[in-house]
Amino acid sequence: MADSIYRAPKGTRDILWPDSARWRALVEAFADVVGAAGYTQVVPPMFEHVEVFRRLGDATDVVAKEMYEFLDKGGRSIALRPEQTASVVRVFAEHRPVVPWKVWYTGPNFRYERAQKGRFRQFDQVGVEALGPDDPHLDAEVIALAWRFYERLGLRQVTLLLNSLGNPDDRSRYVDALTAHFSADADALSEESRTTLATNPLRVLDSRRPEDADLVAAAPEMLDFLSDDAAVHFARVRGALDALGIPYTVSPRLVRGLDYYLRTTFEFVAEALDAAQDAVGGGGRYDRLAEEMGAPPTPGVGFALGVDRTLLACDAEGVFDAPATVIDVFVVDTCGGDEAVLLTDEVRRAGMRVDRAWDDRSMKAQMKAADRSGAAIALIVGEDERSSGTVTVRDLRGDAGQQAVPRAELIETLQTRLP
Ligand code: HAM
Repeated sequence: MADSIYRAPKGTRDILWPDSARWRALVEAFADVVGAAGYTQVVPPMFEHVEVFRRLGDATDVVAKEMYEFLDKGGRSIALRPEQTASVVRVFAEHRPVVPWKVWYTGPNFRYERAQKGRFRQFDQVGVEALGPDDPHLDAEVIALAWRFYERLGLRQVTLLLNSLGNPDDRSRYVDALTAHFSADADALSEESRTTLATNPLRVLDSRRPEDADLVAAAPEMLDFLSDDAAVHFARVRGALDALGIPYTVSPRLVRGLDYYLRTTFEFVAEALDAAQDAVGGGGRYDRLAEEMGAPPTPGVGFALGVDRTLLACDAEGVFDAPATVIDVFVVDTCGGDEAVLLTDEVRRAGMRVDRAWDDRSMKAQMKAADRSGAAIALIVGEDERSSGTVTVRDLRGDAGQQAVPRAELIETLQTRLP
């Protein structure tokens, strides 16, 4: 046991450079894409009263099996968030911001899942939620933002699956039809699917077990149960995506793992990943959720993308590389280190990335550190430079050699020499 205590718990990971830099670059790119569409950032707490997440559906695995729940020291029932839509809608119900309320978020979520590649117990998402309009063009905007974000990362092998779960009445008629279909042949279903059928018939469609395949293939399709109103909404979402040139596959058996969805639902699948973890993002409409949390009836639509899986997809496609370097300039000071204190500060304030050597090591040891640092330029100050008021600027990567530069001209020289 002793040797496993000081390790990250199962299903979690430590993210170090260069992965951490790539991670941040991904979040920044996301903030850029959605910020340009008027979405502002919201930061809800990482835990909520457990009731907030019960809205995701007591019969879903996320709530019934995977939630990190505990009593806090004040006796409150608390859960770590398994996702952020419920939290964001709780924020909406509590603060009642003006609609349309368009927000984005990033951060970790917690699900006690079977840990494997691309499936973690703590995983990060970036996402958006838009509350207020019922407009199908808002569904299309939200989907297009995710699509443009994948494009921005350089991903080319992402497929958009699209479905509609209809209005609440359509959905319950469909669930009844599915229940009748599967119950008529329940003996042929796998044991797991028989259990699912009793609690959440829609999820039987998700089964990938071979013994269920025939019955799932023959199941009625949601799109045949859409009311006129839901069918028109769906057609307009598709029309907008067509107009934008965003390709999609209508996928009538697409069921999402959370129960709040009505009408438009969608998922992004990365073709370059293994089928078990190939969903890089998903979302849809949840037009009843705000009302269930005590707000006036307010439709909503959004999505979340898994950061870990999106980066795995980038690896698989060889795009969105990690940055190659941490710093631009490395300061070598053989006069005891006082010069380095001032030089690093001066060059950093001029906007460059600078590090230095420590512990008053030898010139040779400091130059080795400079090489290892990945910096393009070393600034060397020894007794000669100090007495002549210069700094030696040495090229570490190319063939520009070195030159003694007066201190007063240093920043300008660096600015012309750095890319
Ligand atoms: P979700 O489909 O549960 O939806 O999660 C969205 C994405 O988060 C998944 O497609 C996947 O990339 C990533 N993800 C989920 N679970 C894990 C895990 N255990 N390890 C790694 N990545 C994971 C939602 O969370 C909804 N809140 C989306 C939404 C927003 N719907 C409307 N608005």
